[in-house]
Amino acid sequence: MDRKAFIAMLNKDMADEHASIIRYLIHAYQVGESTPFGQMLLSTAREEMWHMDWLGDELGEMGEEPGMEQGIYPYDGTSNASLLRSYIEWEDNLIKMYDAQAAQVDEPELKRVLHQLGWESITHRRRFASWLDKLGSEGEKPLAPVEGDLSPDLVTRFHSEVDAQYKLVLQHLRHAFVLEGQSCPVGSELELTAMRHMKNLSHFAEELIDSGEDVPFSYPGVDQSSAVPDALAADLRLTTEAQERFIALSQDPEVAEHPDLKIEIDNLVTRNGLLTMVVKELLESVRSESGGESSSEAVSEPEKAAPEAGVKPTSGGFTVGSLKGH
Ligand SMILES: [Fe+2]
Ligand SMILES: [Fe+2]
Repeated sequence: MDRKAFIAMLNKDMADEHASIIRYLIHAYQVGESTPFGQMLLSTAREEMWHMDWLGDELGEMGEEPGMEQGIYPYDGTSNASLLRSYIEWEDNLIKMYDAQAAQVDEPELKRVLHQLGWESITHRRRFASWLDKLGSEGEKPLAPVEGDLSPDLVTRFHSEVDAQYKLVLQHLRHAFVLEGQSCPVGSELELTAMRHMKNLSHFAEELIDSGEDVPFSYPGVDQSSAVPDALAADLRLTTEAQERFIALSQDPEVAEHPDLKIEIDNLVTRNGLLTMVVKELLESVRSESGGESSSEAVSEPEKAAPEAGVKPTSGGFTVGSLKGH
């Protein structure tokens, strides 16, 4: 397989894992995160996040631009059972696909990752089949439309918050994948921060889904900086803007009428405040390491464009073979 086809293959895998995350998350929000069924979906979504993360790290270490858009996950949303049948079919396809891909790859670390993706897809398939069985005829009941009690204004604002937090998650991840070679601590910190934004996102998405809204998770576009300071500055900007909106929401009279929602929004203010500090301190430390120069002077690549396919990152150092270890 030539390099271009190989990179396209890994990017397609990543898009599929991304689509799996979103599908299982939405379903978990629909059935309730605290129900046993919802918990199973949530923990499966979490495993899909690791899968996406492994592939993104791989691509980043190879100096390639990881695709941050989700693939298309076909499903039948009539009932929990029809959804589970769609999931079984999807995971079945992935099992075969990862098996075939692993057979085509010689590099041992990547081979191992592809095998692991396939094995965990087997686990997912088994889990879904077991739940299909467990739900029995109850699972076949059509999923009823829900009526929400949020005002149209709050619904619109929550949709914007889902979009904004989704953008923050994807942007932090993209930066972590691409820039980890330049600064490992920054990469690791950004991955953690992405997870916190995922948690922020889930509050809004769950509220919307509870109100009978569709949450499309459209690709928001992410910052394409190729240098750490520029990337962190872009992340800080989004995080700071979110903080202003969270504070406004926490003071909103309609939010005050929903006590449980108010608790969560107040918590978002403190959590996002912390995330703002983390990114700010990272940016300051990176700037002071580079002698306080402005970011564009501190980096060797002035272009903000994504690295060209096949071009190694500035630090070199990482290869496919050096997978994991940090
Ligand atoms: Fe997966
Ligand atoms: Fe899966």
